[in-house]
Amino acid sequence: MSEYSLLFEGIIFPGKGTKPELLCELRDNFVVKDEDTITVTYPKSGTNWLIEIICLILSKGDPKWIQSVPNWDRSPWVETTHGNKILKDQEGPRICTSHLPIHLFPKSIFSSKAKVIYVIRNPRDVLVSGYFFVRKMNIAKKPETLEQYMEWFLQGNVLFGSWFEHVRGWLSLRERENFLVLSYEELIKDTRSMVEKICQFLGKKLKPEEIDLVLHYSSFQFMKENKMSNFSMLPEDFITEGFSLMRKGVVGDWKNHFTVAQAEAFDKIYQKKMAGYPPKLFPWEEC
Ligand code: A3P
Repeated sequence: MSEYSLLFEGIIFPGKGTKPELLCELRDNFVVKDEDTITVTYPKSGTNWLIEIICLILSKGDPKWIQSVPNWDRSPWVETTHGNKILKDQEGPRICTSHLPIHLFPKSIFSSKAKVIYVIRNPRDVLVSGYFFVRKMNIAKKPETLEQYMEWFLQGNVLFGSWFEHVRGWLSLRERENFLVLSYEELIKDTRSMVEKICQFLGKKLKPEEIDLVLHYSSFQFMKENKMSNFSMLPEDFITEGFSLMRKGVVGDWKNHFTVAQAEAFDKIYQKKMAGYPPKLFPWEEC
């Protein structure tokens, strides 16, 4: 295991910002409240974009909050020491974030009416995004090449474990009325309709001009320049030079990075691991 990362129940976690005792405690004792709104994703699926959208919906498009408070304080990560402390002390409706696979998430979720939004993204783009992210961060072992990272990814030996298990696990809740599945691809294709869908799910009524503001302040360009959202305020020992959370923000960048042989090898494993899932759940299968 790399000096940077942590292994908990066979799953790789960032070596900074969390610890095994917390992960253990969390699963059994963290109380999810009915009024909570939780963003859940496999890393690199559009987590921070959704956080931004939710925050802006709650402020009816007013950017003051997103421009003055870091996203990890607005929608704290349940599994981090920092986020967990904020959430424990917080009263009233909370918004929070998690990358945990379902079997490590607080068990109280299963009896809660908390609203969960799960964002999925083409795992090929997740892989490419993760490759560039991990190479610039000091939180996990750095791959030498994309080929090597692909091998780790397909084996589940990357941060937060296997994409396949994460998605299969969380999608088992997809029929619940307090569970909304969105995809990065749909968010890119028709952001406005997706924002309206999120408003409806959260029971928030926004005027068309307020939705315009949500779209403006959660755009790629605006987020890239907002230091409260672009991770540039992370402690220096987390990141290395040239790091950018807001890398490209497009669909299908994997085509610029996979060789034909890699794409075929990936497809084979994908088909096997995702067998039985209706393709309509995954927009990338329709292209
Ligand atoms: P790329 O690396 O492909 O550019 P996460 O927040 O889960 O870590 O995901 C990060 C990915 O979401 C990055 O993908 C980033 O560029 C993209 N992203 C973040 N905010 C976005 C936005 N407003 N619009 C489009 N993509 C966004």
